[in-house]
Amino acid sequence: MSLRDDVVTRFSERFGEAPAWLVRAPGRVNLIGEHTDYNDGFVLPMAIDRDTWIALRPRGDGRVRLFSMVHGEEAELELASLEKGAGWSEYPKGVAWSLMEEGHALCGWEGVTGCDVPLGAGLSSSAAFELAVARAFAAVSKLEWDPAAMALACQRAENRWVGVSCGIMDQMISAVGRAGRAILIDCRTLSRDEAPLPGGTAVVILDTATRRGLVDSEYNQRRAQCEEAARAFGLAALRDLDPAGLEARARELDPTTLRRVRHVVSENARTLEAAEAMHAGDGRRLGVLMNASHESLREDFEVSSRELDLMVEAARPIDGCLGARMTGAGFGGCAVALVSAEAVPSFSRRVAADYAAAAGLTPAIHVCRASEGAEALRP
Ligand code: GLA
Repeated sequence: MSLRDDVVTRFSERFGEAPAWLVRAPGRVNLIGEHTDYNDGFVLPMAIDRDTWIALRPRGDGRVRLFSMVHGEEAELELASLEKGAGWSEYPKGVAWSLMEEGHALCGWEGVTGCDVPLGAGLSSSAAFELAVARAFAAVSKLEWDPAAMALACQRAENRWVGVSCGIMDQMISAVGRAGRAILIDCRTLSRDEAPLPGGTAVVILDTATRRGLVDSEYNQRRAQCEEAARAFGLAALRDLDPAGLEARARELDPTTLRRVRHVVSENARTLEAAEAMHAGDGRRLGVLMNASHESLREDFEVSSRELDLMVEAARPIDGCLGARMTGAGFGGCAVALVSAEAVPSFSRRVAADYAAAAGLTPAIHVCRASEGAEALRP
């Protein structure tokens, strides 16, 4: 049974009728443009065919009751008196808070949620949950669905309610994803350019089977280092520095900060070039840029891990692999490889075996399709 059918069945069992709405929001994988979003830079992610689903019906009393098939428990929120707590219900609470902060009048609802985005793997299961909840509120409260505005509302929920200082990439791609496309997002203006996946290639996610939570990772420290460097240079953000500009002023920075800044500046340039390569259908060039991105994240930004490096090293020499890099915040989670379509089955088998031998861990391999962003359906 598909997860979609499963969520609808569970809803019907619980509430004795079919749901009024079925909403869905996808996770994502980032092809290139890592740790650039909070520097007002460029990212090139795609929404994947893994989602959070919610089957729901409206309630008239300003409450939300949501049963999570992932956690096997129900959360209940009172929209008029939201209080911070702990656990998965902080996401729906945070989204409700954020939408109400913007002046939206929200109606309550009740439903069942399920998710097949692997949790904590760097594939944005939390952004998928936030956007699905926003879609649910929009459906029952008759809010206009403006994808970028909803992504910003969900990012604010994550920043100010959940307490993770993430950038805009994950929420944005979950909202605006397109089938068969990655999307070049300018994280300053939020303008977007759809980039087709090169013909004859596939995107393969390589899960190292290691996890590292964002909240207690060094993410916030990296972000602070970038912001400090921008301030020292008198710039609004590192986006405003190009490779020549950095070279001219490199001596003003201490060695660690110089490496951090060099990553961001070079990654922005690589990401723009990667989008051009995609428009030209040049999978080889895209793969080369992905490889260079990983080296920069490993050496200059220092957010890779032993397992991510082992995974990338296992993937690259295999026939049909055009490029491989860590994806997402780093410190664990997943790598992503661009692979010739006809080589995918043999590549997947080999990379799993070679990584298992090198790391002593059993990886998960997901061949994924670029998918549409968050949507609301009448089941
Ligand atoms: C996490 C954050 C994003 C982005 C990436 C790194 O996924 O949520 O905003 O900063 O890390 O590129």
